[in-house]
Amino acid sequence: MAWNMAQSLLCLLGAASPYRLVAKDHKDRFRRLAFATHNVTLSLYWSPFLARATGRSENHTMPYDTVHLDALADRWSADADTMDVVVINAGHWFWSQAVYRNGSDVIGAHASTGLNLTEIGIVRPFREAYRTALERLMSSGRRPRTVVSTTFSPTHFEGKTYDDPTACTNKIPYREGEKELGSVEKELRSVVHEETASIERSTSDGVRFEVLDVTKLSSLRPDGHPGAYMNRDPYAHGVPERMPTDCLHSCLPGPVDTFNDILLQILMTKRR
Ligand SMILES: *[C@@H]1O[C@H](CO)[C@@H](O)[C@H](O)[C@H]1NC(C)=O
Ligand SMILES: *[C@@H]1O[C@H](CO)[C@@H](O)[C@H](O)[C@H]1NC(C)=O
Ligand SMILES: *[C@@H]1O[C@H](CO)[C@@H](O)[C@H](O)[C@H]1NC(C)=O
Ligand SMILES: *[C@@H]1O[C@H](CO)[C@@H](O)[C@H](O)[C@H]1NC(C)=O
Repeated sequence: MAWNMAQSLLCLLGAASPYRLVAKDHKDRFRRLAFATHNVTLSLYWSPFLARATGRSENHTMPYDTVHLDALADRWSADADTMDVVVINAGHWFWSQAVYRNGSDVIGAHASTGLNLTEIGIVRPFREAYRTALERLMSSGRRPRTVVSTTFSPTHFEGKTYDDPTACTNKIPYREGEKELGSVEKELRSVVHEETASIERSTSDGVRFEVLDVTKLSSLRPDGHPGAYMNRDPYAHGVPERMPTDCLHSCLPGPVDTFNDILLQILMTKRR
């Protein structure tokens, strides 16, 4: 979703102003774009656990990731001292199979890694990675002016598996109250609010913290996903029994553009 939001942001900015690619790396999807007319660079980092991770997130044929909760993903962490505005968006990868370490200690695992390790769940590693990330930004030699924490955006697989062709066919938004958030989804949203408030309390100088709370607005948009159209012409040969669907990411244009509309409002509004 972070990458989805970044692509949306680039489309929106690119429609208003020319830019050029000044750096990229296919390995971790890193991109840096320069908007010369505004003297601004936009850097896009893909680090799904925020923390340093090796394994499945780099190579999908691997069975799981090993996530080092005491260390951050190298590239964004190395660049942290150069950023004026930071937008963080993470969450979904914590559902994936992973072994979590703290230094040389294995503190647990999530989902079927095939290893006999204590189940750690999703919320605890997410909280610890989030906290470590915020602390890194505050410990940098040159702190950002603004840190925007994006909350969790739920999927809409309608209780079915992702390869059921009917799992993602909603064509209209939910009405208010029609669909409840899951308990883990609620908790992940709260973690972002709590950890952001906590770092804000412990930081005395003028860094501005904002929560970009997109959980409710995205929860109401089961119609906004690519669905079966994650691949071209999915029904070219009739309706297959099994077919991958995407009920997680947002179409462009689509609901994720609203995340960036709100981000723009946040950045244009002077605090107090
Ligand atoms: C462009 O931004 C850099 C870094 O913030 C600053 O040092 C420089 O003076 C700016 N240039 C112009 C033309 O505003
Ligand atoms: C991904 O991992 C598999 C083994 O699980 C390996 O054979 C393959 O070379 C790896 N691919 C890349 C691009 O590293
Ligand atoms: C890692 O271990 C250190 C030292 O025991 C501890 O202070 C820290 O809270 C631990 N971090 C995590 C993510 O468990
Ligand atoms: C898994 O770990 C537990 C606790 O360390 C141990 O009692 C159990 O025998 C282990 N199971 C297997 C299949 O290794």
